[in-house]
Amino acid sequence: MTARTLLSGLFAIGLGLVGLGTAPAVAAEGERHVHDFSFSFEGPFGRYDQSQLQRGLQVYTEICSACHGLKFVAFRTLENEGGPALSEEAMRAYAAQHEVFDVALDDTRVATPTDFFPPSNVPNAPDLSLMAKARAGFHGPAGLGLNQILFGMGGPEYIASLLTGFTGEEKEEAGTTLYENTAFGGYMAMAPVLYGDDVTYADGTVATPEQIAQDVAAFLMWTAEPKMMERKRSGLTAVLFLTVLTVLLYFTNKTIWAPHKGKKHG
Ligand code: HEC
Repeated sequence: MTARTLLSGLFAIGLGLVGLGTAPAVAAEGERHVHDFSFSFEGPFGRYDQSQLQRGLQVYTEICSACHGLKFVAFRTLENEGGPALSEEAMRAYAAQHEVFDVALDDTRVATPTDFFPPSNVPNAPDLSLMAKARAGFHGPAGLGLNQILFGMGGPEYIASLLTGFTGEEKEEAGTTLYENTAFGGYMAMAPVLYGDDVTYADGTVATPEQIAQDVAAFLMWTAEPKMMERKRSGLTAVLFLTVLTVLLYFTNKTIWAPHKGKKHG
């Protein structure tokens, strides 16, 4: 990269930052209101909350899976440490509640742990496996994702805001009912799904719409990024390693040059 492209890049980012503060014009396609929910997995030491992921799985199963799919997620991963961490029996029992289409059999059969969650049932309902990452950089001028960088707001905040962002306004368009949603930034084809008392949690957590929305959003962050914790851990190890290395090199450098320091040339 030449200095010139670097400079113009920085200039563009600068313009973007100015735009963040001043220009509502960038929200022309529909203003999106995303609430800054706080999740356990935020920050360098953040971790997924295992109980929350289990509740999110329950919400996904009981509500979202009626329309949406998770075709990139294998049932066996529900057992993983750092994920919902179901027991092996629970994971097997969960898989066995599903049917999958087997190309070899040319028929459906009961799912096994190595199978993937079924795809979406409703043609317009997108697959949710990677949605939390797909919507991570949704915000900020020109789609630069600045809100994520500056405020740590990303896909899970968007999903939780979407589920709690219905205004109650509806309209018909070409024979379909569309529902106004403040996070979507306009009318969407998904109807409100949370009304209160939508699920009953076994761990006693009170199932308010906000709670349900955050639980399923956390679960969908895990499906999109199951290795987040490992990634953070290796990042921290790398930083620690580089810090130690820097200190060692500093002293090595001093020792090597010590005999020559303070000497006059000639
Ligand atoms: C009755 C069917 C139905 C149910 C149930 C449902 N959805 Fe949707 N969902 C849709 C449809 C249809 C769309 C596409 C909307 C559009 O693009 O206008 C959608 C879109 C979405 C999107 C993408 C929005 C975007 O930015 O493009 C997310 C995220 C989402 N749904 C999450 C969920 C979650 C989480 C649940 C469960 C709590 C859920 N949905 C339950 C039908 C459903």
